[in-house]
Amino acid sequence: MRKIQFFDTTLRDGEQTPGVNFNTKEKVQIALQLEKWGIDVIEAGFPIASPGDFEAVQTIAQQVKKMTVTGLARCQKKDIDRAYEALKEAVDPQIHVFLATSDVHMQYKLKMTREEVLASIKEHVRYAHSLFEKVQFSPEDASRTEKGFLLEAVQTAIDAGATIINIPDTVGYSNPTEYGAIFKSLIENIHSEKEITFSSHCHDDLGMATANALAAIENGANRVEGAINGIGERAGNTALEEVALALAIRKDFYQCETNIVLNETKRTSELVAHLSGIPVPKNKAVVGDNAYAHESGIHQDGVLKNPETYEIITPTMVGVTQNSLPLGKLSGRHAFNAKLEELGYQLTDLDSKEAFKRFKRLADKKKQITDKDLIALLADQSREE
Ligand code: KIV
Ligand code: ZN
Repeated sequence: MRKIQFFDTTLRDGEQTPGVNFNTKEKVQIALQLEKWGIDVIEAGFPIASPGDFEAVQTIAQQVKKMTVTGLARCQKKDIDRAYEALKEAVDPQIHVFLATSDVHMQYKLKMTREEVLASIKEHVRYAHSLFEKVQFSPEDASRTEKGFLLEAVQTAIDAGATIINIPDTVGYSNPTEYGAIFKSLIENIHSEKEITFSSHCHDDLGMATANALAAIENGANRVEGAINGIGERAGNTALEEVALALAIRKDFYQCETNIVLNETKRTSELVAHLSGIPVPKNKAVVGDNAYAHESGIHQDGVLKNPETYEIITPTMVGVTQNSLPLGKLSGRHAFNAKLEELGYQLTDLDSKEAFKRFKRLADKKKQITDKDLIALLADQSREE
């Protein structure tokens, strides 16, 4: 089976979330948890960005033993030198060099011609390769880059020594059909004596970051980049936990394996939410609090009979102790009785019917009925009888 490598950029692109600022201690804590989760490559930061980022990348490079550690660098010698200084003690260092290739970025941001961009890629990837065995190159805004020029830029990077090509959908503009086709075409048309790793890097501006990453995998990418809980610039990055679960639950379709330790997923998500200060939305796929909660009577009844009726992910698989059946106005008798039993009540048929009526009246006035509400309701009922 094909192996998909997981590249985590929570500490670099994830930290570009407005308001998020991890200190070195926090970054190390997250890095060590990511190692437990089974991440293959960690992007620890952007060493030239600040002394703090340099220190964090260097500390992670020194402490991490199993993951490849990478740092970001623009196509500038000073960035590459700084990344080298930060990463040189890593067991398995990698550099990540990038330069924009779309017309809009070249014209307005870089003020460079296509020829100048190609020359810069050649010069800087070659320089990076003189310091690092593993060089990743990203043509920034690849999905909005003219296809012929994208191939030229990628081929230039490969000829200069890059063995990892990352295709960023920088502004979350692409869709699965289009993004997948970029990988297919590049893989079919590049020339290289060495094996090239193709990597996806998606943003979620149109809500398609996970779908795009999976489309890349379907079309030959064997590495996926993203961040825990999907944090990152603007609408965020691909949520890696979503890709991990999609590949695991739909192994029949994707036919891929990963090194991800699935039952560390919830713990990893909670740590990142806590240290970033960005809470996980309740309805977030895989790691949201409601992802394993069933509220309606029909669903609760099904789940009590067999969880597979409404659960495609077993909660324990991702490290969630158990599913929950919150009681509200849509809940049915089956879940209500199960709750009474859990609380230690053994009611006669008649009493339980009366209790259920009272519960429904209360549930019409209150969004969710807690254990405390039920205990009070039953106490009132037996006082009045
Ligand atoms: O989204 C992007 O283009 C990036 C690059 C630096 C890889 O994060
Ligand atoms: Zn990005």
